Amino acid sequence: MNGIVTVVGSLNLDRTIRVATHPKPGETVLGSGLTERPGGKGANQAVAAARAGAPVRMIGRVGDDPAGRRYRDALRHHDIDTSAVLLTPGHPTGTAHITVDDHGENTITVVPGANAALTPHDVTQAAAAIRTAAVLLLQLETPLPAVLQAAHLAAEAGVRIILNASPATTLPDELIQAADLLIVNEHESRFLPTTARSVCVTLGARGAQWGEDISRPPRVEAIDTTGAGDSFAGTLAAHLAAGTPAPDALQAAVRAAATATTWPGAQEGELPP
Ligand code: RIB
Repeated sequence: MNGIVTVVGSLNLDRTIRVATHPKPGETVLGSGLTERPGGKGANQAVAAARAGAPVRMIGRVGDDPAGRRYRDALRHHDIDTSAVLLTPGHPTGTAHITVDDHGENTITVVPGANAALTPHDVTQAAAAIRTAAVLLLQLETPLPAVLQAAHLAAEAGVRIILNASPATTLPDELIQAADLLIVNEHESRFLPTTARSVCVTLGARGAQWGEDISRPPRVEAIDTTGAGDSFAGTLAAHLAAGTPAPDALQAAVRAAATATTWPGAQEGELPP
């Protein structure tokens, strides 16, 4: 059986509009085609890992609202264990407000909602899901204390920790030290301290580099780059959890990220009605 990937992270509803070109500060432009689809870096990565064949468990929070319940159902359709995705009274499900231009490039503003309520206690309650995983996959869209608690539990149990250090922020050294592998994009790599143990840098349309290995993507017709980095991280985690050698895992992740740019939205799919 493939190794389990446990993801601690965000779940958002992505509200996306299309524009010809992104507005500059102070400028108004006309957009079109408002859609609402499942997103959030944590859930996007969980779905990508499940697609790549890993048994996946998700730890996070959604609102105690119809959208939150629909989102949990959608993850179950991907065979993701959502028993640690908690409903959060008094907080709406997180939202991301996304603008995609004619080149498929996006800007994203996240309103965390229930994601901001994830606590170290929530993570401890789900400790068994972390301790029995092959890989713990983390990002930075949920509060840092919860992320740190997950890293502590995994480190104690000898579970491999992969941290996608996105969105970019200043990181405590203990988190950098705990991560067996950091995934960052070129922009985020500039913020990284030199104490990181192993770093994989995503290079957008040029692929990704991990140590000496560079992997180039196949040619695709990109329509929406939203979530491509998440497809990369989730696929890489799934392959490493399954014991795939690093260069092959990198190649699979680069391919998955390229494919993810050919569908609208972050997860290729809608929320069930
Ligand atoms: O990485 C893409 C994701 O960032 C989107 O799905 C959005 O929800 C934000 O979290």
